[in-house]
Amino acid sequence: MKLIAIAAVGKNGALGWKGKLPWNLPEDLRYFRDSTRGQIVLMGRKTYDSLGKPLPKRENAVLTRDRSFQAAGVRVFHDLESAVHFYGSAPEFRELDLFVIGGAEIYSLSLPFLHEILLTEIEGEFEADAFFPGYSGGEFSIPGFERVETRPGLECDSASHRYRFSRFRRAKS
Ligand SMILES: NC(=O)c1ccc[n+]([C@@H]2O[C@H](COP(=O)([O-])OP(=O)(O)OC[C@H]3O[C@@H](n4cnc5c(N)ncnc54)[C@H](OP(=O)(O)O)[C@@H]3O)[C@@H](O)[C@H]2O)c1
Repeated sequence: MKLIAIAAVGKNGALGWKGKLPWNLPEDLRYFRDSTRGQIVLMGRKTYDSLGKPLPKRENAVLTRDRSFQAAGVRVFHDLESAVHFYGSAPEFRELDLFVIGGAEIYSLSLPFLHEILLTEIEGEFEADAFFPGYSGGEFSIPGFERVETRPGLECDSASHRYRFSRFRRAKS
């Protein structure tokens, strides 16, 4: 099982604003859906709230400190280690990849354990209250990770933002 974060970020590291994505990129949503279909998605409780329901056709896991939190169709964990241990050892899940799908708190928590990061890098500065950890805007670099692949997205979306799909893997030390 690999631990892979998948996120879309603005040039300033922006991830979210007032609980929502600051952009509208249908091609990115398709990329997210295709990348994570049939796999495990792990998210923070706030990201789960913003989705409002589990994502179909994948195993959904939510991290919360709230011991009373329950939601239909999601498996609840109270720390990252328990989630990784559960999915890494359960026969029906251990062949799958675990995708960390945000938000900022959960990317930050999982960063030291990630094998890969799939980033949609959007060429725009966005007002935001959630940022990708350690992401230095402009350079599109993440300390501890090396870029292994980049391909352009469609030239423009409805808001005229250029963007690209990039894959980073943990740099060999
Ligand atoms: N651009 C993207 O790709 C992308 C992807 C996902 C989300 N987002 C955006 O990111 C924003 C949400 O991010 P966020 O950082 O505010 O929230 P978040 O990471 O989605 O969730 C934070 C919550 O996770 C739980 N949590 C955090 N650390 C924990 C730990 N160590 N152990 C157990 N539970 C823990 C807590 O839940 P409790 O409070 O219930 O204890 C905490 O309030 C939204 O704007 C969303 O739209 C963007």
